[in-house]
Amino acid sequence: MKQAHLVNPEMRETFTKTGFLKLDRFFSESECDALRIRILEILARKEDGSTTEFAPGRDNHTSDEYFLNSGDKIRFFFEKDAARHRKELSLHRPRLLNKIGHALHDLDHVFNRFSRSDKLKQLSIDLGLERALLLQSMYIFKQPHIGGEVNCHQDGTFLASNPDSVIGLWVALEDANIDNGCLWVIPGGHAAPLRSRFVRRSDDSCEFIDYDTRDFDLSQMVPMEIKKGGLLVMHSRLPHMSHENKSAKSRHAYTLHIMDSRSEFLKDNWLRRPLHLPFRDFDNI
Ligand code: FE2
Repeated sequence: MKQAHLVNPEMRETFTKTGFLKLDRFFSESECDALRIRILEILARKEDGSTTEFAPGRDNHTSDEYFLNSGDKIRFFFEKDAARHRKELSLHRPRLLNKIGHALHDLDHVFNRFSRSDKLKQLSIDLGLERALLLQSMYIFKQPHIGGEVNCHQDGTFLASNPDSVIGLWVALEDANIDNGCLWVIPGGHAAPLRSRFVRRSDDSCEFIDYDTRDFDLSQMVPMEIKKGGLLVMHSRLPHMSHENKSAKSRHAYTLHIMDSRSEFLKDNWLRRPLHLPFRDFDNI
C-alpha cells in the first residue's frame, strides 16, 4: 500500500521557518508500547556492568571510552549521581538509567522495524531528504524524581554533515509535559549558525570547539508538550533543552537522527561506525 504524504507544503514551510514540526498522534499507542516492552526485554537480558553516567555538558564524555565507542552498540548510560540516588531512594539499576544508545535501530529487530517504518520513510521524503540514512538512536527514560536536566544545545554540535541535512526525530513514548520534563525549543533559533561542535581528535578523544560562546536566550524557549505517540521533528541547529523531571511520572522518548545520503557525514564527528556496520537507509530493514 502506498504511504500517503505526511508533510504538506504548508508544514514544510513551517519547518523551514521555525526549525521544528509537532506531529500529534504520529504513532499509535500500541506502536509506542512495543518499544517500551522491548526495552524491558533488553534490560532483562543484559546485565551490563557499566556505571557510566550521562550528564550532557562540557566536561563529560570527552575521554570516556564507553560513550565514545557506543556508535555501533547498544550501551547503557546512567543518571548523574546514580550511586547517591540508588542509596538514598533504594532504586534498582533500571530505575537509574538515563538512556540507552546509540545503535538500537540497527542492532535490535524491534527498534529496526519501528525506525524503518513506512511512515518515517515517507516523512523523510516529504522533508526533502533523498534516501535518508539513519545515524543514531537513543531510548531516553527521564526517570521520575531523578531525570536530569539536559542543557540547551543544538544536535548539529554532535552530528554534523556537509551540506547540513541532519534532522532529529523525537517520539513521545509517554505523555510529555512541563511537569515531567518535556522538550523546550527556541522557535526560529535554527536560523543562527551552529554554536559549537563536539569533534573527535586524531588520538580518538573528543573535544568541544566553540564558534560562539554566548549563552542561548532561554527567555525565548517554548515548551513542547506532546501526547504519547506524538513526533517532534527538529532541525539540526534548533536550540532545545529539557528540565529535570521532578514529578512522579516518567517521560520515555525514542530519538532517531537521519541525514540526506547526498551529504557527507563529517569524519571528525564523535559518532563512528565500523566498516561492517555502515549507516543504512530506510529500505535496508
Ligand atoms: Fe538534542
